[in-house]
Amino acid sequence: MRKIIVIGAAGQIGSELVPALREKYGNNNVIATGRRTPLPKNIVDSGPVIYLDALNREMLAKTFYEYEIDTIFHMASILSATGEKNPQTAWNININGLINVLEVARSYNIDRIIWPSSIAAFGPTTPRENTQNETILQPTTMYGITKVSGELLIEYYYKNYNLDTRSMRLPGIISSETLPGGGTTDYAVEIFYEAIKNKKYTCFLKEDTILPMMYMPDCIKCMIDLLEADASKLKRHVYNVTGMSFSAGELVSEIKKHIQEFDIKYKPDFRQEIADSWPKTIDDSFAREEWGWKPSYDLNSMTKDMIEKLTKKL
Ligand code: SER
Repeated sequence: MRKIIVIGAAGQIGSELVPALREKYGNNNVIATGRRTPLPKNIVDSGPVIYLDALNREMLAKTFYEYEIDTIFHMASILSATGEKNPQTAWNININGLINVLEVARSYNIDRIIWPSSIAAFGPTTPRENTQNETILQPTTMYGITKVSGELLIEYYYKNYNLDTRSMRLPGIISSETLPGGGTTDYAVEIFYEAIKNKKYTCFLKEDTILPMMYMPDCIKCMIDLLEADASKLKRHVYNVTGMSFSAGELVSEIKKHIQEFDIKYKPDFRQEIADSWPKTIDDSFAREEWGWKPSYDLNSMTKDMIEKLTKKL
């Protein structure tokens, strides 16, 4: 049985990944760690929880040693919009945090490391339709720069230190448990909360902005499937993955099927430029061919499920 650590368990993905991992691998085999944001109660109540700062190498080493960790999900990261406000912090957390994890991992018996990259690794010079796995990577955000650097780092540690590192370029993740923080795709989550609570929303992207997205149940499946994929089938370390692509306007029309009186306004801010530098649609055929990636949710089924879950919750 694996001994898994999730670094950054309070975040949008971490907070749903931990319960899913605990269910599959056993509560005591999944250590949830946080630093600033308190961990959700269900995580605190169901298994080991510790304070961990990935910028502190000694603390990482002590934790891997004491808990006999063999599998790492390194989720702690500053997202794109916050990263543009504090580029130095984004570099520090995203890159120094990652290299610390890799450095400590190579001294311990770490079997596998999952570290998510992002569609932010692409930039304005990347073809925006059906973006390929191997293509131009010239991002213009600090977040994107840390993702490309991270992709190169995990390759480097694989090649030189034989660490089994794996990554997927996640699109915007839509979820009903924990709000995302500081991303450009956050509108696609906020919009549901506002539609249900206030029946209106002011979107910070233009109506015709198309971005790739994925619903959380698919994201969790994606992470666990890549973790468990047979190493002999994998021909690379970083995979494009996607669930669906839609414009802000298309999402609004879909929400209006459930909430007719929903009122939308568009007031693009600095995040528009970030969105315009990212792909609209993603080619994830390598992930499909090499480890059987296949999302279950489309715009229609995701919207229906989000509205059901959030209506209960709010
Ligand atoms: N959701 C992320 C962001 O918007 C993309 O990886 O920053």
